Amino acid sequence: MQVNKITGKAYHDATKHSYLSVQIDPNYVDSSTQPSSFKFYPKFYRRISLDFLNNSIHSFLWLTSAITLEKTYKNTVDKLRVNPSAGALYPTEIYVQIRGIQGIVDGIYHIEVENNCLVLIYELIDDGLEGYILPNNRIIGFIFLISCVYYRSSWKYKDRSIRYCWLDSGHHLGAIAASAFLHDRDIQLVFDFDKLALNADLGFENKEFITACAISGNVQDKKVRRLRLKVPFVCGTDYFEQNQFIEEAYKETALQKSCQQEIKHPQLSFDKDRFSQAVWNRRSIRRFEKQFISQELYFSIFQEIRQAIPTESFESIEIYAVVHRVEGIKAGLYKGTHLVKEGNFSEKTGYLCVNQAIASYGAVTWFFVSNYTNYQTAMQIAGFLGQRLYLASNYWGIHCSGIGAYYDDETQEFLETDKDVLYAMAIGI
Ligand SMILES: Cc1cc2nc3c(=O)[nH]c(=O)nc-3n(C[C@H](O)[C@H](O)[C@H](O)COP(=O)(O)O)c2cc1C
Repeated sequence: MQVNKITGKAYHDATKHSYLSVQIDPNYVDSSTQPSSFKFYPKFYRRISLDFLNNSIHSFLWLTSAITLEKTYKNTVDKLRVNPSAGALYPTEIYVQIRGIQGIVDGIYHIEVENNCLVLIYELIDDGLEGYILPNNRIIGFIFLISCVYYRSSWKYKDRSIRYCWLDSGHHLGAIAASAFLHDRDIQLVFDFDKLALNADLGFENKEFITACAISGNVQDKKVRRLRLKVPFVCGTDYFEQNQFIEEAYKETALQKSCQQEIKHPQLSFDKDRFSQAVWNRRSIRRFEKQFISQELYFSIFQEIRQAIPTESFESIEIYAVVHRVEGIKAGLYKGTHLVKEGNFSEKTGYLCVNQAIASYGAVTWFFVSNYTNYQTAMQIAGFLGQRLYLASNYWGIHCSGIGAYYDDETQEFLETDKDVLYAMAIGI
């Protein structure tokens, strides 16, 4: 697709769904051609098996990305993870720089999800990732990088997959934050840094790109130079087809600055044992039973997703809730807690979400809306909120699902907003 005046908004506009666009191109694919969804570095790289039962650092790292359910479907095994993913295509990968942690060589590691291990892809001397992210600081602890192997998603969703790459990346950041919470570690998200130089130095060519960073550790006032050597290229899929639109959308939005805010940390009040169960058992619901949820649980969930997001680079998101089945609350469209219009809109939201029953039969259908400065950051924050919504709902025994497919313009009209609709979700029983 040709986009002339390129801004983040232009990429959003160019990937809108409408009733007609979905009829014309329903995204059918031959599943036997699906590119691989795990990345492996060659055998000769040094590996550390993650002993998540006996080592809390291993468990912290492992729980950011772990496989939590294996499902056999038509002779293939789907490996579902702590993080959800649009179409279960899992474009995201995680790398972690570890510095100053006893028993682990200072280096950059790839988390090899399928084998539960860390792969040492780069040993540090006087250099490190800080040079690209926080040029005046050195981090004793962990620097996580999230990247997207975009073809895993564009294989099916074509240009619109750029949205899913970013939403998935936000979910993965949420999974890192959840693991940090369970392991008593603070986390800071960073969206504005020299991603393009990092992609080049990590050897990603045009096939993988860094979307975000999460820091967990002590910040020292010391400069660290950028990587002294390049990491060799290793492909994250077994085959690849280029999508120029996605590559452009990524690059353009990697360079724009996000809004700024003072960093604040969330005050999560979850019981850790129960929250750990929610992380382990998190799943997307496929069908709701059209039951009501209590008002108390609805407000508890709402409160959790509105907690502070620990980042200085920020984009603010407005939350719309279309209430269908919450005891004691009038059915209708709410902006935050303010009633915009009363009515039973459950059929309407089902239609808007491309006739998906999950958007009709739940208790609440949510829409995350923004007039962002940086589209890439805004989408990831929407995904991060999405992960919170999954975990807070599942914690309280309420089901949840992300919804990436909706008719953009009609949804905006229904919400009575001129801001872009970044993501939809449904919760219920
Ligand atoms: C960004 C995003 C968009 C999604 N969109 C839809 C959707 O439109 N319809 C749907 O039924 N599920 C949707 N899902 C749920 C995925 O299908 C689900 O996460 C995936 O199959 C893995 O299953 P799990 O979440 O149970 O681990 C979405 C998930 C994400 C993260």
